[in-house]
Amino acid sequence: SFYTIIMAGGVGSRFWPFSREHSPKQFHDILGRGKSMIQETVERFEGICSPENIYVVTHKKYVDKVKEHLPFLSHEQILAEPSRRNTAPCIAYACYKIAQKNPDAVTVVTPADHVIQNVERFQKAIRTAVKHAHKKDVLVTLGIKPNRPDTGYGYIQYQQPSGLFQKFKPYPLLPVKTFTEKPNLELAKKFLESGDFVWNAGIFIWHVESIKKAFQRYAPEIAEVFEEIEDHFFTESEREAVEQAYPLCKKISIDYAIMEKADNVYVIPVDCGWSDLGTWKSLYELAPKDDQQNVIQGTVLAYDSQQCIVKTPKDQLVVIQGLEGFIVAEHEGVLLICRQDQEQRVKEFVAEAKKID
Ligand code: GDD
Ligand code: MG
Repeated sequence: SFYTIIMAGGVGSRFWPFSREHSPKQFHDILGRGKSMIQETVERFEGICSPENIYVVTHKKYVDKVKEHLPFLSHEQILAEPSRRNTAPCIAYACYKIAQKNPDAVTVVTPADHVIQNVERFQKAIRTAVKHAHKKDVLVTLGIKPNRPDTGYGYIQYQQPSGLFQKFKPYPLLPVKTFTEKPNLELAKKFLESGDFVWNAGIFIWHVESIKKAFQRYAPEIAEVFEEIEDHFFTESEREAVEQAYPLCKKISIDYAIMEKADNVYVIPVDCGWSDLGTWKSLYELAPKDDQQNVIQGTVLAYDSQQCIVKTPKDQLVVIQGLEGFIVAEHEGVLLICRQDQEQRVKEFVAEAKKID
């Protein structure tokens, strides 16, 4: 058995007007499958992790949202952060807390806003990783075969399996030679070409003892902060202790703080239809399309239109004509009409819109 830690504190501002400061991506049904991303995240652990072992770490302002989407969670399973400190402090908080409850726990850390199409393979990889983490002092991550030199990911160079038996073993645990978080484009291209790199899926598996040791060694300032307050966990004073602890942590991701530095990192490559659904383009690629290659989520009449994404409220009729490669998205009083190939400009629009809002 193991514990699941869901990181749900990010903003994911690119899916605007859905993803907003008060309600980020993980609380939306971006793919139009009837469930929010955080609900789908929980669902993919069904049958392998018991519900009382699922913990969510989020900014305190999203605690009510988390309860609304995951009503089965008890108060103590939602860890409220007083400020955003990126993933290293978030993970430290959850792992130190779970260690307090069960010093022999293995934890699986996962983002709340990723898509995994093949849940069966994902679960097999997780089970395998958990088994290893119970027995060995290892920091395990899942590896995804890259298909473009994306600079937004961590790149993992792993040791190729040697013997024939090793080569065909499903879900092999492979030693990591190098871990490079968000390389520049030139480097990313080299990594891609070389063929012995995978992307870090951002899903980590380790024993609480292993990650505590890693924090002590590579991020001792963060380890100290949480060691200092661990007696408050599961008590009345936890909230206050955490309020005081957080400002002492620097803003740093687990990838920079630990994964790049540690020498006991392992990867399990898995082909499970993973996507971090970071852009409208990635939604376009994943979502079902009509025969004009449009992704339609809403009540829409589309004429002479191809390759569009239309995501609008069900109770509103939308008619489009003559659009090619457009995004038409409406949510809570904001309507966005934008060329798909200009979607990187959404950030700009959001900044401007904030001034009017
Ligand atoms: N609770 C909490 N608090 N969650 C957070 C915080 C925080 O301060 N910051 C980020 N998160 C959550 C986000 O919501 C997201 O689900 C997850 O942690 C990862 O954070 P991102 O900010 O999305 O990381 P990234 O995309 O830049 O990079 C990471 O993920 C890539 C794969 O998607 C790295 O692990 C990369 O190496 C990896 O390739
Ligand atoms: Mg991300």
